[in-house]
Amino acid sequence: MNTHAALDTAHVIIDATEYAAIRAVLDTRDLSGTASVIADYETALADWFGTNHAVACSSGTAALHLALLAVNVTSGDEVIVAATAPVMTAMPILAVGATPVFADTATPTSFALDLDDIAAKVTERTRAVIAVPMWGYPADGPDLADACHTWGIPLIEDAAQAHGTIVSGRYAGTRATIGTFSTHNRKLICTGEGGFCLTTNPAIARRLSEMRNIGKRPGESFGATFGLNLKLNAIAAALGLTQLSRLATRLEHRRATLNAVTEHLAGVRGLRPFPIRADGEPNGYAAVFTTPGQAEPVALRLAAAGITSDPMRYGYRPLYHTSALARHAPPTPCRNAEQLAATLLTVPCHEGVDPPI
Ligand SMILES: Cc1ncc(COP(=O)(O)O)c(C=O)c1O
Repeated sequence: MNTHAALDTAHVIIDATEYAAIRAVLDTRDLSGTASVIADYETALADWFGTNHAVACSSGTAALHLALLAVNVTSGDEVIVAATAPVMTAMPILAVGATPVFADTATPTSFALDLDDIAAKVTERTRAVIAVPMWGYPADGPDLADACHTWGIPLIEDAAQAHGTIVSGRYAGTRATIGTFSTHNRKLICTGEGGFCLTTNPAIARRLSEMRNIGKRPGESFGATFGLNLKLNAIAAALGLTQLSRLATRLEHRRATLNAVTEHLAGVRGLRPFPIRADGEPNGYAAVFTTPGQAEPVALRLAAAGITSDPMRYGYRPLYHTSALARHAPPTPCRNAEQLAATLLTVPCHEGVDPPI
């Protein structure tokens, strides 16, 4: 593998298609979040992911905020969230005045939630569960959606990093009540900043649309219901459309790179490829490894060789160690999540990586 240049975790592909798409939107003189290109982008997203509705918004964090509002999470409620999620997943829970309740993963080498731990933490105040397929690795299967259905609790899947990840024949984010995505610079669909929600439920789609546009309902004025301005702007939507049109090619390339990187590094100083569930396929957002001991010394060696590992970049630890969330720490630590975070390493496998593929 060629590691001659510093390897960041972002790789943005822009060609003449993006310039033309942006110029076309500029020519319309409607750059707002209600321009017609927004609806075009949403239709294309729903088609690509094979679902009924997509609602574009200003970020992945905004998508989670909207999702929580759309399933009526409010002050005093509880939201069960993966302890292995990043801080962006939990902030929207605080924004709606709810309490995050951290759930453990099923094992120290899986991002899937431990259903028994969730069951033990469900109370009459639980209003949502948020699952997160980190680094685009297939995580929770249909069993989580089925369990949430049985409990009558909406499932939100934060697929911010998991565009195109497959679990049990479906794309991540399409089996949940609402799937949320980011289109930040590092993501496989890149609009700089941006996000979207997917749902099969028309009533939820309507609420998401209203709440991202200051509570405006069709034919009524702003404030018909509660809302904020969380719209995506037209230029970003035009970018999103072009980026979406090359998502299939990017997935192919990244999966090939992920396989090559995994083959290249497996066994090096005890690095073990992160297990991939048999019915799933990662999207190549990054290659994940586990280390026999602490991952940090290995990550430091990688950094010295010019390779940035995501867990180093943002000090990956179970979420309840973050200052803003520490007061919600569970009485007993999430043991699997603790071990997972301490022994995890990621290696970029975007199009800027140059392995022998
Ligand atoms: C898992 C996860 N959730 C949520 C977010 C938030 O997305 P955004 O940065 O677009 O707000 C991110 C961003 O990196 C993420 O990785």
